[in-house]
This record gives sequence, C-alpha cells and structure tokens, in this order.
Amino acid sequence: MDVFGVDIGGSGIKGAPVDVARGELTEERFKVLTPQPATPDAVADAVAEVLANFGWSGRPVGVTFPGVVVGGTTRTAANVAKDWVGVDAAGLLGERLSCPVTVLNDADAAGLAEVRHGAARGRDGTVILLTFGTGIGSALFTDGRLVPNTELGHLELHGHDAETRASTRAKDEEGLNWTHWARRVQRYLTHVEMLFSPDLFVIGGGVSRKADKFLPLIEGVSAEIVPARLQNNAGIVGAAMAAVAAGPAPAAAA
Ligand code: BGC
Repeated sequence: MDVFGVDIGGSGIKGAPVDVARGELTEERFKVLTPQPATPDAVADAVAEVLANFGWSGRPVGVTFPGVVVGGTTRTAANVAKDWVGVDAAGLLGERLSCPVTVLNDADAAGLAEVRHGAARGRDGTVILLTFGTGIGSALFTDGRLVPNTELGHLELHGHDAETRASTRAKDEEGLNWTHWARRVQRYLTHVEMLFSPDLFVIGGGVSRKADKFLPLIEGVSAEIVPARLQNNAGIVGAAMAAVAAGPAPAAAA
C-alpha cells in the first residue's frame, strides 16, 4: 500500500510515496528548500508543492515536524519559526493539501522506520534512536513501542542545552574535527545511558552516512551503538507509517 511521506527539516522539505509494508520509497523523492522564515503557511505551501510534483491528492499523508507534536498540534519549534507553537498542524496541512494528514515528531518518525525496517528491526528492550543534524532528535522504544516526544536533545549537559554542543550544526559552526566532535557525542551518549540504560543506540541523521568516521572513536558506552540504515529516507518512511497507523486503511476509507 502506498502512502505519502513528507519530512520537514530546517533546510529542506522532502517527500515521496512509500510502500509501507516494505519500508521503501516507490518513486525518487522530491525536495524543495524550506522557506525562510519557515512559518506555518509558507511551509504548508512548500509541502503542497512536493505533493503536486507527484499528483498526490485525497489520499493519506504523513508529515514529520522538528518539534514536539501532540495530537496533531505542534508544541515547540526549536529550529523553525516560533509561529508553529500551538498550531493545529494536522488541520492546517489537511486543509491546504485536501488530504488526511498525520503529523509527528521527526525523530519519532525516523525511529519508527528503523525499528520496523532498519537498524533496530526485531530488537526488544530499550532502544534509543538519536538523530544528529541541526538539532538532536530522539526516539525512545521499549519492546518496539514508541514513547513519543522524548526531546532528549535538550538534556542539559555541563550547563548547556546538549544539542548546542553535540549536534552536527555545532560541529560545523565551531569547525570541530571528527575526534573533537566524537568526544562531545560520547559525553552525551554516556549521559543518556546513565538515565535510560538502553540496550541499543541507533545513530541517525545525515551524519549516519559517515558513521565510520566517528563511531569507532566513541568509548565507554556499554550499549551497542549502530548507524541508522534508512539514513535520509527514515523520516519519509516513518511519516508514511504513522499515517497508516493513524487512520483507516486507504482501501477501507475509499
Ligand atoms: C527538536 C526536536 C527535533 C530535533 C531534530 C530539536 O531541536 O526540539 O523536536 O526532533 O531538533 O530535528
């Protein structure tokens, strides 16, 4: 069954139809730049442009958002326009796209995809996926079940919001080399491990493609640490999975 997945990020908005059972995109994804400022209306227009590229209408769409999302309402906006706080994002996008829309946190979506189809497939116990990018996103699973909106990227570490020190944005902005940045990631993982004692960490975000450059440098963490497998498509796949989980199957709804 194909459902459309959209991943809203700080720099790009990308989407594609997804074969949810296989966890794969059925067409090459299409990306537009995130409008600046990334206000709700401007982002809704950009998402509409992505869907229009595939002639997608009337059928379910899952959308990720880089902040807390409860019942379709966006509650925080660390790296997008603050106007998103308190917006009924599912309602706004549903109206703009004329499709049933499910909205969820971006890291939660990536986690759903990795647990079902990727690096955490078949893993019970406590699994934590962390996405390293503009911010740090988190998805916490116990025996395959998601605890949504954990926001572990904002844990306080040595007096700082952790994502301002250990995100890849911090790496880029401060010009850190892999060794220096890996040390920060190690401190962060050690802290998260102290709080949750996970069995497995999955490291996601664009940087997971370069896992060989920094994962071997990380020491002193007891949990297994593996790179995400769906990499840049995890958000799109997870968004589509959430849309399926949220509503009647498209066939039944028709
Ligand atoms: C946000 C999270 C998001 C993460 C990755 C953080 O700043 O608070 O909700 O998952 O960035 O985009």
